[in-house]
Amino acid sequence: MVSKRDPLSANIRHFSITACLVPICSLYGAAVTTVEGVGSINTRLHPVQERIAKSHGTQCGFCTPGMVMSMYTLLRNHPQPSEEQLLEALGGNLCRCTGYRPILASGRTFCVESNGCQQKGTGKCCLDPRGNDSSSLLRESDICTELFAEDEFQPLDPTQELIFPPELLRMAEKPEKQTLIFRGERVAWISPGTLKDLLELKAKHPEAPLISGNTSLGPAVKSQGHFHPILLSPARISELSMVSKTSDGLTIGAGCSLAQVKDILAERVSELPEEKTQTYRALLKHLRSLASQQIRNMASLGGHIISRHCYSDLNPILAVGNATLNLISEEGTRQIPLNEHFLAGLASADLKPEEILESVYIPHSQKWEFVSAFRQAQCQQNALADVNAGMRVILKEGTDTIKDLSIAYGGVGAATVSAQKSCQQLVGRPWNELMLEEACRLLLEEVSLPGWAPGGKVEFKRTLVVSFFFKFYLEVLQELKKLVKLMPDSHHYPEISDQFLSALEDFPITGPQGVQRYQRVGSHQSLQDPVGRPIMHLSGLKHATGEAIFCDDIPMVDRELFMVLVTSTRAHAKIISVDLSEALDLPGVIDVITAEDIPGTNGSEDDKLMAVDEVLCVGHIICAVVAETEVQAKSATEKIKITYEDLEPVIFTINDAIKHNSFLCPEKKLEQGNVEEAFEKVDQIVEGEVHVGGQEHFYMETQRVLVIPKAEDKELDIYVSTQDPAHVQKTVSSTLNIPINRITCHVKRVGGGFGGKVGRPAVFGAIAAVGAIKTGHPIRLVLDRKDDMLITGGRHPLFGKYKVGFMNNGRIKALDIECFVNGGCMLDDSELVTESLILKLENAYKIRNLRFRGRACMTNLPSNTAFRGFGFPQGTLITESCITAVAAKCGLLPEKIREKNMYKTVDKTIYKQAFSPETLIRCWNECLDKSSFHSRRMQVEEFNKKNYWKKKGMAIIPMKFSVGFAATSYHQAAALVHIYTDGSVLVTHGGNELGQGIHTKMLQNACQILLKRLEPIIKKNPEGTWEDWIESAFEQRISLSATGYFRGYKAFMDWEKGEGDPFPYYVYGAACSEVEIDCLTGAHKKIRTDIVMDACCSLNPAIDIGQVEGSFIQGMGLYTTEELKYSPEGVLYSRGPDEYKIPTITDVPEEFNVSLLPSSQTPPTIYSSKGLGESGMFLGSSVFFAITDAVATARRERDTVEDFTVRSPATPERVRMACADRFTEMIPRDDPKTFRPWSIPIA
Ligand SMILES: Cc1cc2nc3c(=O)[nH]c(=O)nc-3n(C[C@H](O)[C@H](O)[C@H](O)COP(=O)(O)OP(=O)(O)OC[C@H]3O[C@@H](n4cnc5c(N)ncnc54)[C@H](O)[C@@H]3O)c2cc1C
Ligand code: FES
Repeated sequence: MVSKRDPLSANIRHFSITACLVPICSLYGAAVTTVEGVGSINTRLHPVQERIAKSHGTQCGFCTPGMVMSMYTLLRNHPQPSEEQLLEALGGNLCRCTGYRPILASGRTFCVESNGCQQKGTGKCCLDPRGNDSSSLLRESDICTELFAEDEFQPLDPTQELIFPPELLRMAEKPEKQTLIFRGERVAWISPGTLKDLLELKAKHPEAPLISGNTSLGPAVKSQGHFHPILLSPARISELSMVSKTSDGLTIGAGCSLAQVKDILAERVSELPEEKTQTYRALLKHLRSLASQQIRNMASLGGHIISRHCYSDLNPILAVGNATLNLISEEGTRQIPLNEHFLAGLASADLKPEEILESVYIPHSQKWEFVSAFRQAQCQQNALADVNAGMRVILKEGTDTIKDLSIAYGGVGAATVSAQKSCQQLVGRPWNELMLEEACRLLLEEVSLPGWAPGGKVEFKRTLVVSFFFKFYLEVLQELKKLVKLMPDSHHYPEISDQFLSALEDFPITGPQGVQRYQRVGSHQSLQDPVGRPIMHLSGLKHATGEAIFCDDIPMVDRELFMVLVTSTRAHAKIISVDLSEALDLPGVIDVITAEDIPGTNGSEDDKLMAVDEVLCVGHIICAVVAETEVQAKSATEKIKITYEDLEPVIFTINDAIKHNSFLCPEKKLEQGNVEEAFEKVDQIVEGEVHVGGQEHFYMETQRVLVIPKAEDKELDIYVSTQDPAHVQKTVSSTLNIPINRITCHVKRVGGGFGGKVGRPAVFGAIAAVGAIKTGHPIRLVLDRKDDMLITGGRHPLFGKYKVGFMNNGRIKALDIECFVNGGCMLDDSELVTESLILKLENAYKIRNLRFRGRACMTNLPSNTAFRGFGFPQGTLITESCITAVAAKCGLLPEKIREKNMYKTVDKTIYKQAFSPETLIRCWNECLDKSSFHSRRMQVEEFNKKNYWKKKGMAIIPMKFSVGFAATSYHQAAALVHIYTDGSVLVTHGGNELGQGIHTKMLQNACQILLKRLEPIIKKNPEGTWEDWIESAFEQRISLSATGYFRGYKAFMDWEKGEGDPFPYYVYGAACSEVEIDCLTGAHKKIRTDIVMDACCSLNPAIDIGQVEGSFIQGMGLYTTEELKYSPEGVLYSRGPDEYKIPTITDVPEEFNVSLLPSSQTPPTIYSSKGLGESGMFLGSSVFFAITDAVATARRERDTVEDFTVRSPATPERVRMACADRFTEMIPRDDPKTFRPWSIPIA
């Protein structure tokens, strides 16, 4: 949080910021509060910190300080915020673990109107559709809906907050006027105190940019190598923050932040009649979704306009709204229009180098003038628009004749594009259907995008160009209807059919509501016994105060050096030469580590740590620079010259891999019954394809390691963020050729892993260890997000083909699935993933004749690896798609087909493992019941009949998820417990804390062995304290150490015979989701999700519900927004949060209910608990199938007959294009053979 005194209002402004974009010099005169300054465990916790921890809003805890600070800043400005303010404050913070619901729950405890359930604690919730009848209360009396006790929270006392430092206040009240200069090694930051000085400096350094929010300059410097030796800061110039209201418009200083602009416009809208504020309201609409609050707090209006980004949300509206730019220089002032010439950067219409933008004038709109704004992005918030638009029309008074029309689009060219010619041609035309047709034709001609346009999505963008205009057409008609009501004598306008009205509404930004249900512990259980209770995460408070230490929080150690990796820029090539000389000559560079420096083995033959003479993908590690600082190491990587000779073949897609017979391992196959024979006897057969894109782990903490060589015996201490320290240890040992016992791996906690930190950390650990041994220095290696995404790979993309034979009543008789995963260039876990996928493919269905085949393709992409769900979320999408296809052919609802084909009695799986589906059926039935599925299904149908442009869809999906691997060695666990003589206890165990709360659950398990040994002592002195008993035990020479060993399941799988007993137990579940889609834009809103999950006897319901919710939201991301884009050369484009969209807080379903199934079966596990971490991922597909349900309804209504191929994620692009209509028909289509596309699909 940054606090500054506002020179105009004299108030202190507190605002949250995106810290990585804030130049330190910009903080002159500002107070900065970080999470450490808000409160601490040792002094006093701030209520925000206490509540987020106790509400279970932390899992790995890496995002928690950011969440705390966003909420804290909000409370400094609004001690009793509204729900909307809370959502806005948290909208810019990402969390990959929790699914956001518990974070929001903690924030809601501060809100004025708490929308939470008012009947919590009664075992019944007001949101429960069955009402509050006493019979259901009785039935659920052992069900709990409270995960934390709000009455335990300390109250928020705003008077106790830190005050703005008096010294800074004095400085701000009497600002110095002299120019401040901060000089760095390469850059000078100049901050003048007066406008005159600023203009003088600008005249002297015309090439120097004005640095306002740095949200445009900063990213260009960081990622595009832009460099500015002089930066001029206008921060102290109050003239740039002036606001003036006149009778015809509003002038806003260029230095005002976008957050301030939002407030100024909102105030003006509340003061003026509606007709005058059309442009302001259009701007406000986009200011709500432009970036995040943190960015809006930093970014200035001037910076936004001058940057002229093609995706700018405000420039199209300002352009159509006839805004004027007030420029100033030493020469004086002048005005230029913010028009298409300015936006296109024409010199004649631009600022002169010595000029700056002082303010922007935005005129009021007038009667008969209509202004609208449109925007469609991958998700509702925190995403740059694919296409946006500003549209304005003035009609001749009392008529429908166009007097003036302006339309500007963003996202469809290198700059904001004005459709000037089209608009001119439409002047004088009446506002009717004919005009609409003509306008669409003209717009598509004028706003033309080539097939290869950067950013891709070309056909989608073309469709949006006309779809937006159609929305505008309807909006204006709707406004005219209102005017007619006021002036009954006026012109008659075309009517909008009621069915079309829903096209006018945008989806609101909402936060989730919902109930979490779990079984209360039995009344006989002692209060001291924590098993089964929702205990807070052991590190929760430390996460919230920033006291939790992650790998890179370890302070710099003596003589530490930094390592940066150098990776291949070619997908498949021979390395001809590597020239390190220039890099080695740079100051601070100590060494460059190559494969030749490895004393032991360089990984395995087909999975080398560092490439030797051949690279297999873009991102393949070739060498690593070691330097004194990260900056030095990074700049040295750019000086390493590698020459390559391209090799053939270059394979990226699954199709190409199949063509080239390029596979990583043999086919995995399971078969039962006689598939061919069954196909002969069925009523119908459908064949289809399913494509599922990959997924980036996007753990908040990127890969990192610190290797400290010790002086003696080649010992090494390795601090590493990994899920598998033993693997790191083993790999380092073989790489260095030293025994394992010399290597100690320390893993205190990991900031999210999700499978991405199983295999890869060993590679980074080993390369850093080689550097440490060679240089004799400690080495720190921290991947930035860009490199992490490029190098590490993720979930395997999948391509599946199915053939399903069924009877007309929906009974499936035969299913043949062949699938291929894109494994990338090395084996990694691809074989295991393929096996797991094939084993799980049948999901919850008993189909007598089955054939499942799977292969992992070898391609020239970074190696894909383990990811939560291990193939299940991709593979089972094929099975569920078959069900949907069968339903469509039989004219039945998918849920009927699911029910008909689900396992019903004790049976054997395709691999002949016996199991009982009783719990599966209970989950399914409870989910149908809790979600009021059937009555809501009818409501959805009613809605769809009445609405043409919006459609609702529903889906309920069952799940049978097998836990574990088909190898006995995986099924073991060990723990070591020491009680020290002061009574303190240390528990060491083989699990890693990744956020899943394993340490917390471990502590909930008392050590029975030690308790037994202490029993005689306790009996003798029952009144004694724990410390007394331990002291006596020590005196009596009773061992206070114990080991625990869990020898789990004997698992096996015989792939030759196709049978085995691979899994100790199954997790069953069901999820029901309802969505609404906008057929014109492809956007969707998640209305409600109900999940019923079988956790058996949950050790900690708060943790387990957290795992279910978190994995569901991660799955929802996989199936809806997370899209990896590759260039035709195999370069990953999506290398950061800008291009890759994981769910944000506003993506969570509006109503989100999770129930743990009470009293379910007993698996052979610790305290009969089940592992829920992975299974929930797949339940996210209920959102996917609800979307495809809505799309199918739209297609049926539009008589689109042909089947559509299922492609995940169901992005707005895919949804829009699947809802084919008159607008998708209008757009020009390119022949794919005539151009090289911007990106290629790899699944
Ligand atoms: C994470 C993120 C998300 C974003 N999302 C969106 C989005 O959804 N929609 C959208 O439209 N935009 C988005 N943006 C872009 C953002 O709106 C712009 O970066 C921002 O408005 C630029 O303002 P600034 O003050 O930070 O400019 P700076 O980076 O400080 O400066 C940018 C340019 O403007 C010039 N300049 C600044 N002030 C003046 C002045 N007074 N006179 C003359 N020249 C001046 C500078 O010389 C420089 O060339 C996003 C940016 C980020 C980082
Ligand atoms: S708890 Fe939010 S990222 Fe892990």
